[in-house]
Amino acid sequence: MPDLVGSIDAGTTSVRFMIFDEFARVKASHQLEFTQFYPHPGWQEQDAHEIMDAVHKCIDGAIAELEKGGEHTKADVKVIGVTNQRETTVVWDRNTGKALTRAIAWPDARTTHTIRELAAKSDKGTDAVKEQTGLPLSTYFASTKLRWMLDNIPEVRKAHDEKQLLFGTVDSWIVYNLTNKAVHITDASNASRTMFMDLKKQEWCPKLCDFFGIDMDILPQIKSSSEVYGKVAEGTLKGIEIAGIVGDQMAALVGNKCFQPGEAKNTYGTGAFLLYNTGEKVVSSDNGLLSTIAYKAGPNAPVHYALEGSIAVAGSAVKWVRDSLGLIKDASEIGELAGQVEDTGGVYFVTAFNGLFCPYWDDTAAGTVVGITAYTDKRHFCRATLEATCYQTKAILDAMAKDSGVALKALQVDGGLTNSDEAMQIQADILGINVERPEMRESTALGSALLAGSAVGLFGWDINRPETLAKVNTAGKQTFSPRIDDKRRAELLHGWERAVERAKGWNE
Ligand code: G3P
Repeated sequence: MPDLVGSIDAGTTSVRFMIFDEFARVKASHQLEFTQFYPHPGWQEQDAHEIMDAVHKCIDGAIAELEKGGEHTKADVKVIGVTNQRETTVVWDRNTGKALTRAIAWPDARTTHTIRELAAKSDKGTDAVKEQTGLPLSTYFASTKLRWMLDNIPEVRKAHDEKQLLFGTVDSWIVYNLTNKAVHITDASNASRTMFMDLKKQEWCPKLCDFFGIDMDILPQIKSSSEVYGKVAEGTLKGIEIAGIVGDQMAALVGNKCFQPGEAKNTYGTGAFLLYNTGEKVVSSDNGLLSTIAYKAGPNAPVHYALEGSIAVAGSAVKWVRDSLGLIKDASEIGELAGQVEDTGGVYFVTAFNGLFCPYWDDTAAGTVVGITAYTDKRHFCRATLEATCYQTKAILDAMAKDSGVALKALQVDGGLTNSDEAMQIQADILGINVERPEMRESTALGSALLAGSAVGLFGWDINRPETLAKVNTAGKQTFSPRIDDKRRAELLHGWERAVERAKGWNE
């Protein structure tokens, strides 16, 4: 039977295992949500063991579905890749392999004060480590989450001081567990989100580790995003090689085949993340974007970099409208309701649940709704919720145009929220350019599958020679074109920026 490739996609709220053939057709998949803990306002935690349970169950579920089809057996799955929510911080004991506390999830903003203290120590303020890392000081990245654990959880401190502690992002944790504690690694794309790595050298930087006060021995080894790291030690896929690791947003760039400088995509998941390939060059942003590693497809392959615009809250706002407000029963209803009104009637919802990321970078901003009148109903509120992500995307595109000197002519999109036609029409209206939604929207899982397949030469794939991926079918798309004029767009954008000003600094 034809060979297949698997991908573990461990996102912020759910884990999936997907199995692809050489044309990128999904042959089987299984998905499970896991618990989010919100112990205090602005905090968000996860149980690393629950994530691992979900990984095993998703693998079993997808293999069962594959074999039920009768065409394939699990032996056809030749290699697997891993892609993951980035920045989420896990610590565990190197003897027992047990997590020492709950993982701190990437949106968690508990370290606002630490960020302020660190910024005050440098004459560059929040740009203190930007030159080495490409990142501004922010609660978003792993460094201050780890610092918080060391300062507040005695077991973590003790394990650190006794050299028993291991740290990793979710990719490290998954690979460590799948290989039964044999391999403690990460890839360069995930490492670039910790704030401990030198972006140009792709090595842990002693000065940065000193700055955050952590022992370098606890860090995983940095590998490329495409090479054989080890084998699955137990379970349904025992003996299969793990050969791709990449952060989920970089995976989506690869899965969309954005291999050339200037190519970009925006993925609307829990948050939304616009990545713009800058090729083998680090481009530093003067306009609030991140410089990050896109991928390094092989130990000796060149590194590809990206400029990134990160939006902390996108799909998570829809989930909140559904689960916490109960305004809708199913996520798909938000687009339907939003589409029933022509505009929000002047309502703006700045979804700054954990501060604002790109390009505003304000950890102290708070979720804010302005412009409510007796005329407002839930349709306007739903529309304002969708618009919040679209306005932030516009702010990021403007920043990218300034940094790169080139304005995008169309925006390529994927991720859960893009299933809504209404949301994509709103996005096109707010951007004033076409929004292109591909038919193939599993680009995140596909990205890590491509990197894993490429590492072992499966199907003749080689990411460094994109022509070898010609059969990987990412063609076919629907285009949404702007329907409002420039004057109306300018009015709407002006309203949004005023609303953002009101949200900023609330949690000072
Ligand atoms: O940086 C956070 C990002 O990796 C999370 O991705 O898809 O879970 O929103 P997602």
